[in-house]
Amino acid sequence: KVVGNDDERLRAAEGALDEVRDGMKLGLGSGRTAEHFVKALGARVRDGLSIVGVPTSENTARLAGSVGIPLTTLDEQPALDLTVDGADEIDRSFRLIKGGGGALLREKIVAAASAKMVVIVDAGKLVDTLGAFPLPIEVLPFGLGATRIAIESAATRLGLTGDLALRQRDGRTFVTDGGHHIIDASFGRIPDPEALATALSAIPGVMEHGLFLNMASVAIVGRDDGVEKLSR
Ligand code: A5P
Repeated sequence: KVVGNDDERLRAAEGALDEVRDGMKLGLGSGRTAEHFVKALGARVRDGLSIVGVPTSENTARLAGSVGIPLTTLDEQPALDLTVDGADEIDRSFRLIKGGGGALLREKIVAAASAKMVVIVDAGKLVDTLGAFPLPIEVLPFGLGATRIAIESAATRLGLTGDLALRQRDGRTFVTDGGHHIIDASFGRIPDPEALATALSAIPGVMEHGLFLNMASVAIVGRDDGVEKLSR
């Protein structure tokens, strides 16, 4: 990874601290940018900020615990004030592709339980059309072959084709925190994310997909010379 991008990720993460208020219940995202945010938030907590966090992955739970952020769950706190999370791509309508780190199901549940979602990204993730980043689709291991064919057919009906790769890690099929697998769908361009989201959600073996539509209302974009805040 280029060092400049990590500087941008760090700037975006630190920019999101301005969104945090004392007493908030926060969703804590996953991935490198979100980890910068969690560390910066931990420093504020040590300085006296009072918040509680709901982590979107086991990795984030470990990190947040280690930097002193008090953690809770959506069972204890079903309504959150704000989620701060990264993304793999974001377009000008605040539509996102997420799940590059494999945490998309919990990320979407936590974001949906939050009054507001702020996305923190480096500048390279702002795109005109979603889809250059392969779309992560979380699938149940049971029936995987049939689910894959159903995804392919649904995509083809929408004019989308491309490789559907079962995600691997360290020579094994990747397993999510929820015990599922991920299919990374290389469609190239997704001109109608809403139609694809609806079609994928209708497939029984699809647990969730990485299209986050109508969720984010603020994006903090880290650039080499500062941050840009976009809102809708
Ligand atoms: C994790 O499942 C993803 O949704 C991340 O939010 C996304 O992959 C961004 O990660 P980075 O901040 O590491 O690029």
